[in-house]
Amino acid sequence: MTPPEYEYLRKLLKDHSGLDLSTDKQYLIESRLLPLARKAGLAGLPELVQKMKGGSSALVSQVVEAMTTNETFFFRDKVPFDHFREKIMPDLLQARANRKSIRIWCAAGSTGQEPYSLAMSLKEMGAALNGWRVEILATDLSLEVLEKSKSGIYSQFEVQRGLPIQLLVKYFKQTGEVWQVNSDIRAMVQHRQLNLLHDFSPLGSFDVIFCRNVLIYFDQDTKTNIFGRLARIMEPDGFLVLGAAETVVGLTEAFKPVADKRGLYRPGDARGQQPRPIAAPRLAMAGG
Ligand SMILES: C[S@@+](CC[C@H](N)C(=O)[O-])C[C@H]1O[C@@H](n2cnc3c(N)ncnc32)[C@H](O)[C@@H]1O
Repeated sequence: MTPPEYEYLRKLLKDHSGLDLSTDKQYLIESRLLPLARKAGLAGLPELVQKMKGGSSALVSQVVEAMTTNETFFFRDKVPFDHFREKIMPDLLQARANRKSIRIWCAAGSTGQEPYSLAMSLKEMGAALNGWRVEILATDLSLEVLEKSKSGIYSQFEVQRGLPIQLLVKYFKQTGEVWQVNSDIRAMVQHRQLNLLHDFSPLGSFDVIFCRNVLIYFDQDTKTNIFGRLARIMEPDGFLVLGAAETVVGLTEAFKPVADKRGLYRPGDARGQQPRPIAAPRLAMAGG
């Protein structure tokens, strides 16, 4: 791959998904895109670039998907789910006692382990949520991971990562080699395709946003822009949960850290002006 070809791919990925690759990630591009090029009957990456330049939008989507990192597992990092159980939900049960409804958004839900961990946590609260309406919306850029998330089907290896055995027994059914999340838990999670670079204000407002392990791939301006727009669709007393390697500190005043609660943030006093989405407004939907 020539330097201009690499630069073309780098820019295309930044524009379409926010992925900010440094100048020395040729190996990453090659390892992820060569199989895709071969599958498309192309000899290599130069031919792939050529075909994309010719205007193949299907190929662009495939390239963007192939470059996403979808790593996730149940109750990943544990602490955010402790916050959810011990701080977020108790606070919201009080604050929303009149309207009895809570909206939760998993903004990069990948293959579903994160939204289903939240759904199981809610189920574990039992009668405390009787009469409440709690929505969980799982979105992702990648249609492939959303399909898997919707199916709720996981391998033995996947259910062994982070999921306590008693929750596996209680909320999953084994069929042959795989496990499927029970339908009542699946029904608690709605799925939609959504690119965080696009306008997400039509989703309405949320009490809780899990936006974990996706912003690490973006540059600072993109993160700041997304934080600004997340703050605008969050209830003033809502909660933002970030990944272990992510923070708002030094990037935005739109959120402030919750003392002694690692990874947990609340909207700041000055949420500022609504920043414009980075990419043209487009809200592709894959309902279900
Ligand atoms: C590493 S996974 C994180 C999954 C989960 N939040 C967790 O922490 O375990 C990152 C996910 O972000 C998605 N993603 C990448 N760029 C995105 C974008 N611009 N908009 C929405 N999702 C994106 C990827 O498809 C991938 O599924």
